[in-house]
Amino acid sequence: MYKIAVIPGDGTGLEQVNEGLKVLRACQEKFNFKIETVDYDLGGERYMRTGEVLPESVLEELKSFDAIFLGAIGHPDVRPGILEKGLLLQLRFELDLYVNLRPVKLFPGVSTPLKDKGPDDIDFVVVRENTEGLYAGAGGFLRKGTAHEVAVQESINTRFGVERCLRYAFEYCRDKRRRRKLTLCGKTNVLTYAFDLWERAFHELGPEFAGVERDYAHVDAICMWMVKNPEWFDVIVTDNIFGDIITDLGAMIQGGMGIAAGGNIHPGRVSMFEPIGGSAPKYTGKGVINPLASICAGAMMLDYLGETEAAGSIENAVAEVCSKKLKSLNAGQMGYSTAEVGDMVAAGL
Ligand code: IPM
Ligand code: MN
Repeated sequence: MYKIAVIPGDGTGLEQVNEGLKVLRACQEKFNFKIETVDYDLGGERYMRTGEVLPESVLEELKSFDAIFLGAIGHPDVRPGILEKGLLLQLRFELDLYVNLRPVKLFPGVSTPLKDKGPDDIDFVVVRENTEGLYAGAGGFLRKGTAHEVAVQESINTRFGVERCLRYAFEYCRDKRRRRKLTLCGKTNVLTYAFDLWERAFHELGPEFAGVERDYAHVDAICMWMVKNPEWFDVIVTDNIFGDIITDLGAMIQGGMGIAAGGNIHPGRVSMFEPIGGSAPKYTGKGVINPLASICAGAMMLDYLGETEAAGSIENAVAEVCSKKLKSLNAGQMGYSTAEVGDMVAAGL
């Protein structure tokens, strides 16, 4: 029995989690486990109604679950930053979800904008540090609003934070599904403090993980190679902001936000799984959003919980639906409604 907190959030979040949960529930009997869900009303509507973004008591309750299943965050009537920082980033920080795991995998039958590249070429994961870097919120203004204004935004990199993220990535390389190559994505030629620490830690830890090949690339070069030679990558580890940026690029080469999922993970603690895309306000309530990202987030959640067989079955069913049914992964162009896509995956388990 797994206790799952569900946060549908904003916009199309609800439509997405409904299908994700449909597939998770369909797994229960086949794979002999149970999920018990509790819904949490958090997001833009709640904020506008009550002024609350993430009450302390809710945060405490969330700690008692096995996992959190999140829809999407972001409301057109709420100033940018309030929900993103107050809810999504707050959950990542307060629950100390120090890894953001983002697979970039092209399923058969899915079209990629990369010419001459197929499923064999696009299959890697990004391990993004999720609690530090530029996201830590360090910095401030001086003489704000004047001609002499100064804005400082600092990247915080602790040996502890970097090391635990690297360890996770090294260990992930040993997964039977991986090819045992770890690429550190940095900018050692310019960010000579932050990435000096990362690079030293990377090579100091490396020998503990015999059999894992170590590789390094600057973030700008990674952007070129993700497009030109994505097959070079197996596992990429990087800091928070670079991870944010390269995983949007990754989402595009795997077929778009319709299928990109991620996990915010602290091994052994309540972790949170979500589609990478946003709340897509313009599609809300129309039943046209692609739920595969949420369904894949559900698969990642099961994998995290140890239900690897069920997770694999969801992935296979998703692959089947992609190759045999969907016209496109884009919202409104799938040839099926949001709910129909969920039904097809559930039926294909
Ligand atoms: C993501 C998102 C968030 C981030 C935003 C919404 C704060 O872009 O999950 O990648 O920057 O991490
Ligand atoms: Mn992002």
